[in-house]
Amino acid sequence: MQINPLSDVLGAEVVGIDVGNLEDETFDKIHAAFLEHHVLVFRDQELPPERQVGFAQRFGELDVHIQKDNKHSGHEAMQILSTKKVDGKYVGSPSAGDAWHSDLSYTDIPTLCTMLYAVEIPEVGGDTEWSNMYQAYETLSEETKEKLEGLHARHTFNRFRNPRVEVPEIYKEIGKERYADIAPPDAVHPLVRTHPETGRKALYLSERFTIGIEELGEEEGQALMDELIAHQKQRDFIYRHKWNLHDLTIWDNRCLIHLACGGVPEGQIRHMHRVIVRGDKPF
Ligand code: OGA
Ligand code: MN
Repeated sequence: MQINPLSDVLGAEVVGIDVGNLEDETFDKIHAAFLEHHVLVFRDQELPPERQVGFAQRFGELDVHIQKDNKHSGHEAMQILSTKKVDGKYVGSPSAGDAWHSDLSYTDIPTLCTMLYAVEIPEVGGDTEWSNMYQAYETLSEETKEKLEGLHARHTFNRFRNPRVEVPEIYKEIGKERYADIAPPDAVHPLVRTHPETGRKALYLSERFTIGIEELGEEEGQALMDELIAHQKQRDFIYRHKWNLHDLTIWDNRCLIHLACGGVPEGQIRHMHRVIVRGDKPF
């Protein structure tokens, strides 16, 4: 097994192993590399759904997404992200992740890690970006760090309540009221969280899910969020991944935000298998 860093800021590729068939000792090394690099890319994996599920379960208990539409028919815990259409209907979510976010931050128990497998890739577009929230926190001024201490942010799934994101056509069709029914209750989390395994502090907000700061008035809270959101998207903190066929990526949502960059031309196929591992309550 070889572990090669992909950038100065985050990410490493792992070559020479089959994740469906790992000794415990090798898994321990992978787990350590995951904590060190935050994103791991396993190349050339032959990964039927049950093997991907099995590998993910080594990191913890799998979670089931609130969106019921994009489930894999044979595997309740697997979701499909896809630009493929059958009979005029997408076979998976075509636009998941189109604004910066950390998975399931709108719930009390957000995602530990997400695992995405490239079943089909397009010739153009479909990249993924991650930004390092340890670095985002560590590069704040001492004054800002002090200001953030003890603050909590409100996260919601409901796009209609978040002026920072667009509402896609399909949701406009579903309508505001029904969409509000699908959305779970808001979650409130510390604006700076402590990673439960490394003990390091990371900035924890995103433009997709965070809508306000609990302890501050509306104007002051939004101004602080604007400042932090601009800071967390600096190119210095970001690694952009161009997918190869049969890449399997796994990333740590406790210290990263990420973005589906989109730009897949009409008619080209990006088809991914996704599973998520349940984390713990941010503190
Ligand atoms: C996700 C996600 C990004 C992508 O699966 O949680 O945001 O590039 N995916 O598909
Ligand atoms: Mn995501």
